[in-house]
Amino acid sequence: MKILQFGGTGQVATAVQAAAREGTEVVALSRAECDLEDPSAIRRAIQAAQCDLVLNTAAFTHVDPAESHPDEAFAVNATAPGVMAEVCAARDLPFIHLSTDAVFDGLTDRPYVETDEARPLNVYGRSKLAGEQAALAHPRAAVLRISWVFSRYGRNYVSFMLRLARERDVLKVVADQFGTPTDGEALAAFLVETAPRWAAAPSGDPAFGLFHFANAGETSRFEFAKAAIERDPLSRAKLEPTTQAAFAEPAPRPPRSPLDTAKLRAVFGFEPEPWRPAVERTADRLVTMGAIG
Ligand SMILES: NC(=O)c1ccc[n+]([C@@H]2O[C@H](COP(=O)([O-])OP(=O)(O)OC[C@H]3O[C@@H](n4cnc5c(N)ncnc54)[C@H](OP(=O)(O)O)[C@@H]3O)[C@@H](O)[C@H]2O)c1
Repeated sequence: MKILQFGGTGQVATAVQAAAREGTEVVALSRAECDLEDPSAIRRAIQAAQCDLVLNTAAFTHVDPAESHPDEAFAVNATAPGVMAEVCAARDLPFIHLSTDAVFDGLTDRPYVETDEARPLNVYGRSKLAGEQAALAHPRAAVLRISWVFSRYGRNYVSFMLRLARERDVLKVVADQFGTPTDGEALAAFLVETAPRWAAAPSGDPAFGLFHFANAGETSRFEFAKAAIERDPLSRAKLEPTTQAAFAEPAPRPPRSPLDTAKLRAVFGFEPEPWRPAVERTADRLVTMGAIG
């Protein structure tokens, strides 16, 4: 099983490389090796790879800067996956792409299912929605929407909050934004384990299409941070709840965007772990590794 992965250095990209098992080769391309703003570089990379599956973990993930850099966000998040899907379709290769809960407006009274209408509030969400639509033009594409990703790798909310809690006396955390954290290492293991199924599945197979992937349960940003910080004996900050409005970020965020994973369970038999033990385990590992920040 040879996976061509766009994204070499990102959080999920690194987790996938770590999850690769015997019999799975992940050829991961960093920005230096393939810039997603260059469609011809994407085409050349897929044509040269002789792979069984193409996985895109790269994205313009900076939600606030995306507001002032919409062209770059759309080039990386929408045009690039469209090119990947087009080349994969021409070569009959499965294409796996990642998207986000930020495609939703957050005005919901229940977890979002895949068929709910997407109404993004910000440029990042609009660019990711355009990217999933472009990806799904290929009948052998699977798009996994994920949310609030954490892991031992890269820049992520858990490692960031652990660092701030060591540095500050008081740490204000948003308490009026709700969602489902996603264990990036469980996602990576799922992607590697499911790769052979995707590689063998014909178009029309239920393994293709749009899926929500997240841990079980729903929480606030505040409780998410607290669950991690409480694991660190060197944390000193007093946590104080605040509001999204108080942060006045350039990009509006969905106030409530939990993801319903029933379709993932039905199609793949994947049972998501509750978010809290997954966050606690990751925080413990980050503390032990000294990889905070
Ligand atoms: N993290 C989350 O909470 C979250 C939530 C929902 C959905 N997602 C989605 O999950 C996926 C993986 O996210 P992540 O957390 O792994 O993100 P990440 O850690 O920010 O990594 C993004 C990667 O994309 C690369 N990249 C950006 N622009 C590029 C370009 N022009 N050419 C080539 N590579 C480029 C970055 O390379 P450089 O290092 O060179 O910049 C980086 O390696 C993305 O599709 C994201 O939208 C993430």
